Amino acid sequence: MNSPTQPIAGHAIQVLFVTSEMHPLIKTGGLADVSAALPAALGALGVNCRVLMPAYPGLIEAVGAELILDGLAPFAWGPRCRVLSGQVPNSEVPIYLLDAPELYHRPGGPYQDDSGFDWPDNALRFGLLSRVAAQLCVGQSALQWRPQVLHANDWQSGLAAAYLKLNPSNAVRSVFSVHNLAFQGNFSPDWMPRLDLPWSLFAPEGLEFHNWLSFIKSGLYYSDRLTTVSPSYAKEIQTPELGLGLDGLLRHRHESLSGILNGINPNEWDPAADPHIAQPYDQDRLDDKAANRKALSQQLGLNVADDFLLLGMVSRMTYQKGSDLVLDALPELLRRPLACVVLGSGDTELEQRWREWAARRPDRIAVHIGYNEALAHQIEAGSDAFLMPSRFEPCGLNQMYSMRYGTPPIVRRTGGLVDSVTDASPSALASSTATGVVFDTASPAALVSAVDRTRALYEQPDLWRGLQITGMGQEFSWTRSAVAYLELYRTLIPDPSTA
Ligand code: ADP
Ligand code: GLC
Repeated sequence: MNSPTQPIAGHAIQVLFVTSEMHPLIKTGGLADVSAALPAALGALGVNCRVLMPAYPGLIEAVGAELILDGLAPFAWGPRCRVLSGQVPNSEVPIYLLDAPELYHRPGGPYQDDSGFDWPDNALRFGLLSRVAAQLCVGQSALQWRPQVLHANDWQSGLAAAYLKLNPSNAVRSVFSVHNLAFQGNFSPDWMPRLDLPWSLFAPEGLEFHNWLSFIKSGLYYSDRLTTVSPSYAKEIQTPELGLGLDGLLRHRHESLSGILNGINPNEWDPAADPHIAQPYDQDRLDDKAANRKALSQQLGLNVADDFLLLGMVSRMTYQKGSDLVLDALPELLRRPLACVVLGSGDTELEQRWREWAARRPDRIAVHIGYNEALAHQIEAGSDAFLMPSRFEPCGLNQMYSMRYGTPPIVRRTGGLVDSVTDASPSALASSTATGVVFDTASPAALVSAVDRTRALYEQPDLWRGLQITGMGQEFSWTRSAVAYLELYRTLIPDPSTA
């Protein structure tokens, strides 16, 4: 039997990985990081993994794509489209771009316009992506390559599994990965005929969810295997608290559901070779981290004494991420010797509250509303500790970046945060396994206590350095995750060597 880490010469598994975003081409969150890293890591294991995503503005040029399929008419009505083939920049991953200019060539984001409103035709935009993914798999196109596994991600490609099921000759197996159950892609049932979906599928045992046509439910119901991005979240979504109405279905499917923790890109997030930061450093040159703290404070106009704890935060400003918990805790937190650097965007009200605090306390609170890759790296390197008080967190990437940067994360005990951060309990500190501070309750008071606990550690330089060094030595590579996905694919595909 082949070892899962060894490429299988001549028997590469063929996988079509369908996604709606990919770093550095287009990104709204962690799905983009995963879509960049996982196909490449699978490729390194010998899997022939190709990506399919929409041709948003500029992408055709960015990947040097050439036309391979023209004049496709995936639906009985509606737009024609074409498929172009290219290569992901700085990688060997082949990428197919689905081009339908009237659907994807728009200013704004992949899901919303510039004002933050969902595109009104998202059902069509991502129904088309799902439909074409299924057609490429079952040979309903002139594409020579045939995948064995269709790996779809989140609601945007959830319908692909339903389209596969509708094809009786289909031998392709499907995997559906949930990156966030809170985004469900629920639309009016009027879309059923327009998306060529028979009404027989609009049932509780199918696509119907509280009288909506649910794209995520399609993925959860019709896919052969389900994954989510951490073992803890895989358990949590089977409970009423975090199952968001889909927990019954997920409990029913528990034997097909597993949690595979995401990795991080160690080249992109490497404090020893990060082009965005003022001073590179590593475990052996940890004192050099201080230059990044100084540069960050100066750049943002903060007045941070050496003994102050500089807290960093980079995230979408939403209920999920607990941005409001930090805001509510600020009056209490500011009684302590600490300062905050916050980068993010999201809910207008939360953005406004952050702006107001920054205006009120410019010496202690710096806020940058917007998306800024370089600043995200500078905050990871320049902060003393990193705040991630998420109410729920399927995996979370920033806590892993923080550990790699010697910036211990303060996280709530949920989802992937549980699976990646070890609380600085006395026993974990004694055994040098602690990597951060974990707290339980989603309340401002619990957050303040966690920050106090962090400050107490920070005031003990030897303990603090131990926490930093243990975090920096954690293994969060994509190889480990890719091996787990490869094992999953192998359970779906007969081993050609035994045929
Ligand atoms: P989610 O996908 O739920 O937003 P993750 O932690 O998985 O959370 O991934 C978020 C990713 O987006 C990380 O790579 C993070 O650094 C990045 N990110 C989030 N907000 C910003 C921002 N305002 N500027 C730059 N990067 C950001
Ligand atoms: C989602 C989740 C986040 C996860 C990311 C990538 O956006 O909110 O926790 O890390 O997907 O899987």
